[in-house]
Amino acid sequence: MPVIRFVREGRDVECYPGENLREVALREGIELYGLKGRLGNCGGCGQCITCFVDVVGESSPGSLSGRTGVEEQKLRRRPQSWRLACQTLVQQSVLVLTKPQTGLADADKTIAQAKAQPLPAGPTAWPVDDNLVDEEQSETTTSDEEA
Ligand code: FES
Repeated sequence: MPVIRFVREGRDVECYPGENLREVALREGIELYGLKGRLGNCGGCGQCITCFVDVVGESSPGSLSGRTGVEEQKLRRRPQSWRLACQTLVQQSVLVLTKPQTGLADADKTIAQAKAQPLPAGPTAWPVDDNLVDEEQSETTTSDEEA
């Protein structure tokens, strides 16, 4: 599965291919929003422009879905590496800096250290639910014994 490396937080988080970046961050307790976004955001509709992230590295080109029309319009005066998390689907592993508008002490050094550790190429195997595997094996064993 793809890994999202949240550089500011120093965390690697796995997600399913095609998952929404904002939803993964919120699920994992990663703070995407500055004060304005915490006080009121659009809930992922692409209207408030408060869920900025800077994509500082990718395991391969095309690791994220392409910029949406909303992003092209809303981010036209921002760096090309900036995305709206709510408009972004993760296909393969990436490095992300949350709240890029907020300073980060030793940003260059911190990002370089995060890039130095390899990212899995992804997408890799889907997770296996051990309980389902056990049930399937017992069903197969039972039907074999009946035959
Ligand atoms: S949450 Fe409002 S633009 Fe992303």
